[in-house]
Amino acid sequence: MAVTIIVGSQWGDEGKGKIVDFLAKNVTVVVRYQGGGNAGHTVIVDGRKTVFHLIPSGILQKKICILGNGMVINPEGLLKEVEEIEKLGIDIKKYLFISDRAHVIFHRHRQQDKHENVNRIGSTGQGIGPSYTDKFARVGTRMIDLLEKKSSSKFIAKFKSNIVDTSALLAKINRQKKEIILEGAQGTLLDIDHGTYPFVTSSNSTSGGALTGSGIGPMEVCNVFGIAKAYTTRVGNGPFPTELSNKTGEFLRTQGKEFGATTGRPRRCGWLDLVILRYAVRINSLSGWIVTKLDILSNLPKIKVCLYYKYKGKKLYDFPASLKVLQNCRPVYREFSGWKDLGKVKSFASLPKNSQKYLRFLEKETETPIKYLSFGQDRNQIIRL
Ligand code: IMP
Repeated sequence: MAVTIIVGSQWGDEGKGKIVDFLAKNVTVVVRYQGGGNAGHTVIVDGRKTVFHLIPSGILQKKICILGNGMVINPEGLLKEVEEIEKLGIDIKKYLFISDRAHVIFHRHRQQDKHENVNRIGSTGQGIGPSYTDKFARVGTRMIDLLEKKSSSKFIAKFKSNIVDTSALLAKINRQKKEIILEGAQGTLLDIDHGTYPFVTSSNSTSGGALTGSGIGPMEVCNVFGIAKAYTTRVGNGPFPTELSNKTGEFLRTQGKEFGATTGRPRRCGWLDLVILRYAVRINSLSGWIVTKLDILSNLPKIKVCLYYKYKGKKLYDFPASLKVLQNCRPVYREFSGWKDLGKVKSFASLPKNSQKYLRFLEKETETPIKYLSFGQDRNQIIRL
């Protein structure tokens, strides 16, 4: 069994792109299973910045990359991204396969999204919601429909032989015991079912979506890794209990370069929230954490972690469905002493003692081990624990 699911554990932007890029070294295939051009992964290789919206970052390592059936794809956006990747000398047609069941985003979906949704929930305006609305109303257009209509678009002309039954392709690869990564976009709290509805995206970004969105069955999965930023961020509207609307929030935004890869919007920043992380463990069945951006917390004298919420005198350990409760609950914190600099990180033992305490606390409170630790922007700045 060689299928690993990677999910975001908070509100997205946990640094999945860098992690998938790192883990992709040892795998055969990387699959995106939901969402579309709303996502944005920034990967820095040899100081050169590449932003991906649709194609998994595994493409840089010439891995097979699949856009799964659970996705909604804007063909024009995909073509633009492909052009950027071709500039790097990668023959994309050898590596990219698109599910014949994935749905298409048309211009009208993007127009509708921009007009109706941006101000209400703060959508990225990429047409995601309107395209999924058509899918579930059973009036959507799938990739197979474009093929059968013999569309003469530039996209179909270029990719007709790459639009295939990707579930069947994955089954074949899985039978050969080759490693597969199922890469989620967004994060647990943006999931249409489990997130902070209606301030969510329109797909299942949690591990359940990895199965329906790729056409792989549950018994094939051997690991589910949750990516957790060492603090919390959120783009767009909606409640955020540990948000810091002060200088510390500004510090995290500046140090962490917390601006959206797709929209450029400043991200809201706050302390790490264990109510959210425990929820992510439960919903996704996480077998381990990958903690990112620990270095951003360096130089803070004190660092807080939310243990539980207090609402009307009651302690809440489970993430509530009610936005009213979320908006009016008070996070209860444990305070940790900070550290100056992570220094040259070689192993867990080489980390400053205070940062070790912080990480061990996260593991203990969530009853889930940290498997990897990522810091800094470069693809090599990751250690295995
Ligand atoms: P949509 O997915 O464009 O419909 O946007 C719905 C909500 O999800 C908005 O609050 C967006 O800011 C948020 N969102 C969508 N994609 C991402 C992402 O990749 N990272 C962080 N937030 C996202």
